[in-house]
Amino acid sequence: MRVLVVGGAGYIGSHAVYELIRDGHEAVVLDNLSSGYMDLVHPQAVFYKGDTRHAKDLDLVFDNEPIDVVMHFAAKIVVPESMKEPLEYYHNNVEGVRVLLAAMKKHRVKNIVFSSTAAVYGEATGICQEEDETKPINPYGETKLACEKMIEWASLAHGFNHVIFRYFNVAGADASLEIGLMKDQLTHLIPVAIQTVLGIREKLTIYGDDYPTKDGTCIRDYIHVSDLAYAHVLGARYLLEGGKSQTMNLGSNQGYSVLEVAQTVHQIAPLKYDIGPRREGDPATLIASNDRARQHLKWVPEHTLEDIIKSDMAFREKLNRKP
Ligand SMILES: NC(=O)c1ccc[n+]([C@@H]2O[C@H](COP(=O)([O-])OP(=O)(O)OC[C@H]3O[C@@H](n4cnc5c(N)ncnc54)[C@H](O)[C@@H]3O)[C@@H](O)[C@H]2O)c1
Repeated sequence: MRVLVVGGAGYIGSHAVYELIRDGHEAVVLDNLSSGYMDLVHPQAVFYKGDTRHAKDLDLVFDNEPIDVVMHFAAKIVVPESMKEPLEYYHNNVEGVRVLLAAMKKHRVKNIVFSSTAAVYGEATGICQEEDETKPINPYGETKLACEKMIEWASLAHGFNHVIFRYFNVAGADASLEIGLMKDQLTHLIPVAIQTVLGIREKLTIYGDDYPTKDGTCIRDYIHVSDLAYAHVLGARYLLEGGKSQTMNLGSNQGYSVLEVAQTVHQIAPLKYDIGPRREGDPATLIASNDRARQHLKWVPEHTLEDIIKSDMAFREKLNRKP
């Protein structure tokens, strides 16, 4: 299959491209490089610099490339920034998908795999099922939910087939170490812990140890980026084989507490951490039920928490060695 990966120069999109190429498919990348990197684009992928809000950029790609499936990763994703700049988030994330769907309709491209997020569940706590209530608590989550709904309505009206994936905590790097999470201003637990191990940060602060969990720290579901990326290959194949449009969680069905993550990192390399006060809006436990993805895609995440940590550490060490 020939897949257009919109946002394929970003963290997750670049991993999807690597998995597609490994699986014998062709990848075309469209990216405006607003938060992506040319270094992350697979050398065998065809690259177009362009913006998904600009119909002419999409026309150029669809006129030149026969596309079977579109994968969409092109979003602004920083929650605090979305609180300050909601209109920017709506413009990029929602308008970007509207223009993309209109171009797909015009060029008769029927299949889309869309990246969504556990943020659509808002303050839910416990094990999230796809049919649970969606109630985002920030503009970022709202924009992703708006895109989900737009894709569902457009599928009904215009005959698109879609898979919407809601990701939980994504981390790690490709086994080749050619690609990984590049950003400096990281906020996610695993890369922050590893930056601490590598001396880029002074210490890791764990926000709260008085939650109703086994050790008092929050429980989250971690998924290796390569497992996540491979699910997209399966999702695209599923659509081409006539699979019914679906929304699916991508997580591990398993939770680790923040303290367990810190201790796992510490077993691999010494980590300095302390306990701070709770952060506003952090639910005690957030775990994905991944039964749907297992059932419909036969997808099983293969990497352990330790694999995730070790691969992120190896990638970050490699970044540090670069002149
Ligand atoms: N990283 C996570 O932990 C996480 C968790 C849940 C969901 N997601 C979703 O996964 C997707 C990818 O996230 P990521 O972590 O790879 O982010 P990222 O910032 O690394 O990648 C996004 C890519 O899209 C590009 N882009 C953004 N707006 C664009 C536009 N208008 N036109 C063309 N290209 C544009 C950027 O340049 C970048 O290369 C997002 O949709 C996000 O909502 C990510």
